[in-house]
Amino acid sequence: TFPKRVKIVEVGPRDGLQNEKNIIPTPTKIKLIDMLSETGLPVIEVTSFVSPKCVPQMADHAEVLKGIQKFPGINYPVLTPNLRAFQAAVTAGAKEVAVFGAASELFTKKNINCSIDESFQRIDEILKAARAANIPVWAYVSCVLGCPYKAKISPAKVAEVTKKMYSMGCYEVSLGDTISVGTPRLMKAMLSAVMQEVPVAALAVHCHDTYGQALANTLMALQMGVSVVDSSVAGLGDCLFAQGASGNLATEDLVYMLAGMGIDTDMGVNLQKHLEAGAFICQALNRKTSSRVAQATCKL
Ligand code: HMG
Ligand code: MG
Repeated sequence: TFPKRVKIVEVGPRDGLQNEKNIIPTPTKIKLIDMLSETGLPVIEVTSFVSPKCVPQMADHAEVLKGIQKFPGINYPVLTPNLRAFQAAVTAGAKEVAVFGAASELFTKKNINCSIDESFQRIDEILKAARAANIPVWAYVSCVLGCPYKAKISPAKVAEVTKKMYSMGCYEVSLGDTISVGTPRLMKAMLSAVMQEVPVAALAVHCHDTYGQALANTLMALQMGVSVVDSSVAGLGDCLFAQGASGNLATEDLVYMLAGMGIDTDMGVNLQKHLEAGAFICQALNRKTSSRVAQATCKL
């Protein structure tokens, strides 16, 4: 059975833009987020407070967070890898943050330069500070259906890491198919294992679409009761590890599918306004949308 209602987490401004090579002007990012705020999305991930050496595109994180309009009822979380990032985010006005780890040792090392155990310690430091500041924290687990450096990731490993994040105090855990190699049967096996450890209400899915499986994998997750889905306007979000490939699940395509299935979105996301936000950012980046719905609508 499908959930009656789905919460969409728009990750375009962060996951969608973080790997763009040319630095996008800060006002363009702010305008995109303000346009997304008009669409009725409940959560918009704004930026990440990571090292500008690792991710130059997110170096303007504080300016973006301070510059956007904050609509009542919308959450504007930011990604924070360590305590220093958390403190910088709070100083810039963050009211909610996301932490991130992975089910793969090698990916964790490459991405955040530590082991999985060390990443738990960093997350625990953030959680302690966040509790004191009354700031909710959710988490990402990457590589849940595959890793660019290790052939196989077992569902048991994903369940273990997810359980740890949840039991430490992350209120929601988003399961990321980082390199988009998964197919629905694997999604089902992985989720079955995770759901034995963590309530499904605390789980989200985060599918990249390099291999064109994102909507199918997301649909499988919905069928299993997951009701929080990450997606990106215009399908932005080129995978770090697969050049030229398309990015995250496109929000427009998700909204279209949910509407067609009679599944409510949290605040009734306005597809037309989303298409406009997608057109705006694609024009600014001088690229074609990856959303099939946007492509189809253009031809009408
Ligand atoms: P580290 O090497 O462990 O940290 O990096 P360190 O303490 O040894 O410091 C190394 C350097 O980073 C130092 O600078 C620090 O000052 C600096 P240097 O002395 O070399 O000039 N540094 C910082 N700079 C700014 N802000 C900070 C900060 N902390 C240390 N907070 C760190 C640790 C995590 C910072 C680094 O590895 C990093 O920034 N990684 C970012 C990786 C990233 O952003 N990846 C993409 C996001 S995750 C993702 O996309 C997946 C997701 O979408 C889900 C999915 O699809 O699966 C979420
Ligand atoms: Mg991602």
